Amino acid sequence: MNKHSSIKSSGSLLERASELYGFGDALRGGASAAQPSQESAPPAGTNVPSADPVPTPVPVQKETVPEAAPLATASTPPAYSSRSHQPQKSGRFAKIDRQLLISGNFIDPDGPVSGLSEEFRIVKRQLLLSARGGKGYDPVEHGERILVCSAHPNEGKTYCSINLALSMASEKDNRVLLVDADFAKPSILATLGIDHSPGLMDALADPNSDAESYVIETDIAGLSVLPAGAQTNQDTEYLAASRTAEIIDQLTRNDPSRIIIFDSPPALAASPASVLALHVGQCLLVVNADETTDSALRDALSLLSGCDHVQLLLNRAKFSPTGRKFGNYYGYGA
Ligand SMILES: Nc1ncnc2c1ncn2[C@@H]1O[C@H](COP(=O)(O)OP(=O)(O)OP(=O)(O)O)[C@@H](O)[C@H]1O
Ligand SMILES: [Mg+2]
Repeated sequence: MNKHSSIKSSGSLLERASELYGFGDALRGGASAAQPSQESAPPAGTNVPSADPVPTPVPVQKETVPEAAPLATASTPPAYSSRSHQPQKSGRFAKIDRQLLISGNFIDPDGPVSGLSEEFRIVKRQLLLSARGGKGYDPVEHGERILVCSAHPNEGKTYCSINLALSMASEKDNRVLLVDADFAKPSILATLGIDHSPGLMDALADPNSDAESYVIETDIAGLSVLPAGAQTNQDTEYLAASRTAEIIDQLTRNDPSRIIIFDSPPALAASPASVLALHVGQCLLVVNADETTDSALRDALSLLSGCDHVQLLLNRAKFSPTGRKFGNYYGYGA
């Protein structure tokens, strides 16, 4: 009997995830280097249950990944350079609607530290460690490319992608490129209050186009957006073509300080997610606390097995090991 077959079927997702993936220490508030202390462990909204400084990658089954064209070979990751490097600009620019951000309960980039911003600081720290290395950890290959996915629709992928992008953009050493990779149901532009604009799918469909020319700089320092682009019923086929890897490599070469965050479609509802997983170094699997079922989580994990570094992000959790909130801890309203 393997450890998966002995999982009890009742109990909250958090309890089952704890048993399945060994998050017991985290749930008990166990100490480890990069884990929030008992006083500051995030209780609600989002948190990454992990007992390790870099959460243990979830084991994945390679044979379940759909066939895709081989990735471009000349992909030695460019040397990381800090944000002082001036990248080429597309000339596209947009202001992000702060009222939309605030009414949508997102991190306010101009606001004070909040419970939410503290929670995403913890999430991004884990991901940046894998992306850039440090504290004794080597960077993972293409760890600067992060796919934010979930099993089903409406579990918080876009919400977490945007908050993660806002949080990472505030880092002095990194720029963030937020890519709307939900081609069938794009929502990044509308959520940020940016007008419709061409994007990644246009670049994939036209070999003469340059994806960089579709990147929109924003009025938030360090944050740019690549829209999904024209809708097509061949999005999976375009993504599986070798041009996808070439485009992503080029985006990284153009600005090595870039962290690229892909807002994915749901793994179990649309095929592009599993192909996107082949192009990234890290995958953040958003789990809707107490709603995402055990079997959906396993199915999603096997579909994302093209990526070796999968981490779970528990969204809308009411769990807190201490009952204390970040907002209280920092003296701000949570
Ligand atoms: N932790 C949270 N706190 C507050 N609102 C949230 C949270 N998570 C998600 N939401 C809200 O729930 C709704 C659905 O979230 P979101 O659009 O991010 O889901 P999704 O997984 O991207 O859905 P889809 O698969 O349709 O793209 C949105 O209105 C979002 O703002
Ligand atoms: Mg979405």
